[in-house]
Formats: sequence, structure tokens, C-alpha cells
Amino acid sequence: MDSSVCTSWLEIDLSAIQNNIQLLKQMTRKKIMAVVKANAYGHGMPDVVRAAHEAGVEWFGVARIEEALQVLDNAPGARVLVMGYTPPQMVAEAVRRHITLAVYDFDTAAMYSAKASEAGGKASIHIKFDTGMGRLGYNQPDTVDFARRVIELPNLEFGGVFTHFARADEPGQDTTPKQIERFNQVLHNLNQNGIHPPLVHACNTSATLNFPQAYFDMVRTGISIYGISPSKQTILPQGFKPALTFKSRLTSVKTLPAGHGVSYGHYYFTPTEQCIGVVGAGYADGFRRRLHSYALVHGKRVPVVGIVAMDQSMVVLDEVPEAKIGDEVVLIGSQGNEHIGAEDLAADWGTISYEVVCGLSARLPRIYHQ
Ligand SMILES: Cc1ncc(COP(=O)(O)O)c(C=O)c1O
Repeated sequence: MDSSVCTSWLEIDLSAIQNNIQLLKQMTRKKIMAVVKANAYGHGMPDVVRAAHEAGVEWFGVARIEEALQVLDNAPGARVLVMGYTPPQMVAEAVRRHITLAVYDFDTAAMYSAKASEAGGKASIHIKFDTGMGRLGYNQPDTVDFARRVIELPNLEFGGVFTHFARADEPGQDTTPKQIERFNQVLHNLNQNGIHPPLVHACNTSATLNFPQAYFDMVRTGISIYGISPSKQTILPQGFKPALTFKSRLTSVKTLPAGHGVSYGHYYFTPTEQCIGVVGAGYADGFRRRLHSYALVHGKRVPVVGIVAMDQSMVVLDEVPEAKIGDEVVLIGSQGNEHIGAEDLAADWGTISYEVVCGLSARLPRIYHQ
């Protein structure tokens, strides 16, 4: 699609994604699992998966089996781990497509085995241990017994073990070192009892940056692949490139007199006569219904004023006298020497960078550049 026909759209630089994958490979010298759940963090699953596969990624991580099927449609032969729950009705499909399922509960594992048997095959599994996240993962002390009982189920193929960190973006915190210690203990106990997981993985992006001692065989990176920093405490090193630009257009440029209310609720009144532009993107696109955001127009950073509406937002254009209807506006990304990162919007909106990009709506066309 050509952006000239769009009012609001996303541009995704696939070479940035490939660059970021290469950096992660150089940094870790381990296998990379590209986490592409949630439509590749809003970037668009099919193209991101193809680009990552082309860049040598063998493993993909998703939350749900539907996403795993979408990965395989775009990267035939790739390996996919469904990190969440898989309903019984979908296990046959997992067996048929050789999708790996997460196991963290014996009854669910037994269900996977029974359904795999009905399907006439084996379900590939990775066992997940909860070492402190308090979410998915087996958290009882009898880890060896649990692993043995799961592995002995007749229709499961044991492919690996993993865990997930709760606070890896806070390098000064002792939570992650403790989780690593617990996970190492689990691995040691398994090994001592003759259980040798073919693949061990633990690190998300933050842990990959802050805890190299926990690389094991593979890192499970999401946000860094898209060139976005996980949090204020954990910033991506030089060389990583953001892949996504969120663009819109000015759809109106006009002067309002002093004291004029702007947008629903009149949360903003013009302090003097002001040139107010309307931008054709709003909360239905994922540009949150908040005050205090910024946009870039003609390479200048301009304030968003008034409350953001469903399809439209208002900006002050006094500093950009050349602005006219149809001009490009950047809501996330670079224009001239200015840059607004997903991280900046996250700070303005009181959330995390992940939520900013995952919230970019389906109605925004995604335009891909190589
Ligand atoms: C289990 C698991 N592993 C890895 C990741 C990737 O994390 P990140 O995007 O911080 O690299 C996620 C993302 O939420 C996850 O839930």
C-alpha cells in the first residue's frame, strides 16, 4: 500500500528488525526466540515473522495457538512455543504442525498427552517452572518428580524447560538473581536425576541486557527486536533501531481566538489567538485519550491539546506557520532531528512501551520497508 492514500498509518522498517536480531545474536551467541505474540507487538505478525526467519531466527514465541499457526504460515519449518494455555480442541493441530506447548500443571500435561494420542502423534512440550514470577509455571518443591511424571506421559515429546523473570528490568533488585539461583537449582536437580532438557531458556529482553549469566541455550526476546527499550531502568544499547513509525496527517489548520475551548469537555482553552491543527488519528487508532502528548510536524515538536477523540487529535501549530492540510504528522518515530519514541509516549501516558505499541489498532494500515 502507498501511504499517499492513508490518513493514518504505520511504517515498519523490517531491516531495523533484522539489525536488532543480529545485535542480539552477537551479544548473546545463543539461539534467539523471537517473541511475536500480539501481532508482533503491534508491528504486524506476517511480515515480522518472515523478516525474522530470513534473519536466521529458528524459534518463535507466542501466547496462543492461533498465533503459532500464523507463524508457521509465514515461516514454514520454524519452531514455535505457545507460552500460554492451549485448549484441548487445539492439541491435535499442535501435534500436526509440530508446535511446542508449555506445560506447568500435571493435569493439563495429561490432557495434552491424551489429545495427542487421539490425534495419533506426540505433543512437543517445554516444562515451565515458576521461580518467582507468580504467574504460569510449576511452583512446588518436587520439581524432579513433576518433570519425571510429565515426561513419562506416553504422547509427549520433552523438548526443554524454561522460566520467566518478574523484575529483570531493575538490575539493582535481588529478585532476578534469586530466580536465577532457583532455576539453576531446578536444572541441577533434574540433571542429577538423569533428566537432561534439550533446550533451556529464561531471559526476556531485560534479562538479556542485565543478566548474561542466565542466557542458557536461548533467549526469548520481544521488545528489543522491535528496537524499543523495556523500561526507564533498562535502555537498549547503541545500535538498536526502532522499527515502527506512527504517522498521520493534518486534516484541518485554522486560527481560533483567545479563550476558545478545544475538543470534547473543553479541557483546553486557547490562552491567546492560536493556530490549531487537527490530526487524523485518535484513540481508536491507539493514540490514547489523554492530555500531554506531543506530535512532530515539519520536524518540530508540537503539543497535543484538548482531549484526544476517537479519530482525531488537536495540536498547536503556532511554531509551524508553514503547516497545511495533508502534511505528515509523526506520533511515534522521527521527523527531522526530532524523535518521539514509544518509550516517551509510555511516560506521557503513565504506562509501558509494550502497551503503547500493542495498542496500535488493526485499522492502521501497516506499510513495510525492507
Ligand atoms: C514468557 C515470556 N517470555 C518472553 C517475553 C518477551 O519479553 P520482552 O518483550 O520483554 O523481551 C514475554 C513477553 O511478555 C513473555 O511473556
